[in-house]
Amino acid sequence: VTIHVQQPTGTRVSQDLWGLFLEDINSALDGGLNADLVRNGDFEATPADRPGWGPLTGWEPRGDVRVRSDRPVSAANATYVRLAAGSRLTNRGYDPAGMLVPEGTSRLRLAVRRAAPSAAAHASLTTADGGVLARVEIPVVDDGWRWVEVDLTSAGTARAALGIEVGVGAVDVDLVELRPVDPQGHARLFRPDLVETLRALRPAFVRFPGGCVAHGYGLDNMYHWKRTIGPREDRVPMPNTWGYHQSMAIGYHEYFLLCEELGATPMPVVAAGVCCQNVPGGPQAIPQQRMPQYVQDVLDLVEYANGGPDTRWGAVRAAAGHPEPFGLRYLGLGNEDVVDAQFADRFGQLFAAVREAYPDITVIGTLGPKPYGPDYDAGWELARRLEVPMVDEHSYRSPRWLLQHLDRFDHYDRSGPAVYLGEWAAHTSTMRSALAEAAYMTAVERNSDVVRLSSYAPLLARVGSTQWLPDLVYFTDDEVRPSPSYHVQRMMAEVRGEQVLGCAVTGHTDRPQSPPAVQQVTLRSPGSTTRFSAIRVGGTAHPDQLVGPEDTATLAADGTELEVVATRTDGTEGFVVGFGGADGETVHEFQVGGWRNESLILAR
Ligand code: AHR
Repeated sequence: VTIHVQQPTGTRVSQDLWGLFLEDINSALDGGLNADLVRNGDFEATPADRPGWGPLTGWEPRGDVRVRSDRPVSAANATYVRLAAGSRLTNRGYDPAGMLVPEGTSRLRLAVRRAAPSAAAHASLTTADGGVLARVEIPVVDDGWRWVEVDLTSAGTARAALGIEVGVGAVDVDLVELRPVDPQGHARLFRPDLVETLRALRPAFVRFPGGCVAHGYGLDNMYHWKRTIGPREDRVPMPNTWGYHQSMAIGYHEYFLLCEELGATPMPVVAAGVCCQNVPGGPQAIPQQRMPQYVQDVLDLVEYANGGPDTRWGAVRAAAGHPEPFGLRYLGLGNEDVVDAQFADRFGQLFAAVREAYPDITVIGTLGPKPYGPDYDAGWELARRLEVPMVDEHSYRSPRWLLQHLDRFDHYDRSGPAVYLGEWAAHTSTMRSALAEAAYMTAVERNSDVVRLSSYAPLLARVGSTQWLPDLVYFTDDEVRPSPSYHVQRMMAEVRGEQVLGCAVTGHTDRPQSPPAVQQVTLRSPGSTTRFSAIRVGGTAHPDQLVGPEDTATLAADGTELEVVATRTDGTEGFVVGFGGADGETVHEFQVGGWRNESLILAR
């Protein structure tokens, strides 16, 4: 195969092209990114989260343990428990085998109130065989609510249960958290292995909190950012759209912190005044009389992110420990909504207000759940009419669909709104999906003058707690399992070109029935680093099937023409999905094997 590299096409690659879609689905946050080991530590789980759930979900009571709601720690967190003398509450976290307590110190934080003239309480970490990893006294000194922090130190990493027991008197308990402590002595906010996995994707932006979580399955379930910031006790927990309890321990402020930690610009997506269409009776809209306040809330969000400490919401951010702005540049309005008159009205109000107050923010509109549907056309029409700068297109499709639409963006109108490919993935076989996605990403990059942003979805999934498949990164308490798609995303993000070069392929006709190889060449600056991807998908028997053994390739560069020497490696199943480098140096080579196996190994 020879790839003839031609002159730059004139398309400059968006430097924000590859980002992350972070939604609280598949226990991505509580039980995932949130480093807190305790499940339902706020005792606020209800049957609205999931039938059969309640305040003691995740807890095993022994003795006289009562659920109460009189004089709570906060109106937002109305439920707590009272433990009488001789009683105990046990929490095993998100795994029936117990929470994975790391070696070293973990910090227990909880709200306590003395409910008898004198009281004594202890916290402990115990293993299934009765071993005690750590045991400390919980100071109970006040008959009003008081925050208490105590450290529990374990000599080794072990599965354990957290116990809270009262020996004397009675104690009220709420908002229990147990967080491993980092080397600097701070209780961890996020799970470090997951953060590192995301960091390796070098995201230009992080979209949050959804997805459907943003607009919710009813007006009561809509995500309101102001209810997720400030002291933990004042945050309003909510049933998660995907059927579990959402503590809001990770709220908007923490999402912003995560973006900062990842070096990514934040991209909040707020409801466009309407909730999800998948509710009986269809989407409901915020009543007109409440829209001015809702519009103000959205403007306040931008001020919270970007305003100086002298502004009202910038001051709230500064009081939360972050005087510097978070650098928000993108704001999504709506997610996969039905684009009807009700939507157009609410969206129009929000868009006009944001555009006037913050003309530099790129507002992103929505195009419904998938290309070619009625909402897709209506979404484009509305966006063009209102001159919305960018629209959010979603594509959960088969690998075959992606491969059959590699020219899709070649035909997009360059004079209208730009495109954010906000949620997309290939489903079915993991291996085929990864290859099709790699091919699709070259098409996206080639059309980066119109497709400015892209994020695979969903991002994270706790094994055994998924509501959606496939996902980019799977995890258990002690393991992170990136999918093949993850490696493709990573490969594309690691070496970002600046300009697209024209190219032509010759000598690839050895499999006449196969679709042509997909190739993409980008240049960082003329004469320097070149990024090259060659994705070949196809087989003689089934047009969209990968066949092995496949080609491997080495890259030689002589300035203007790259020659790719393809060598058949008989006897091994594998496929090179891409490589790149400067002056012939191969820096990325992803060999993929065992594609029929869902738990396939991807070696780098
Ligand atoms: O990514 C999972 C879901 O897919 C999102 O919440 C929603 O926007 C889409 O339907």
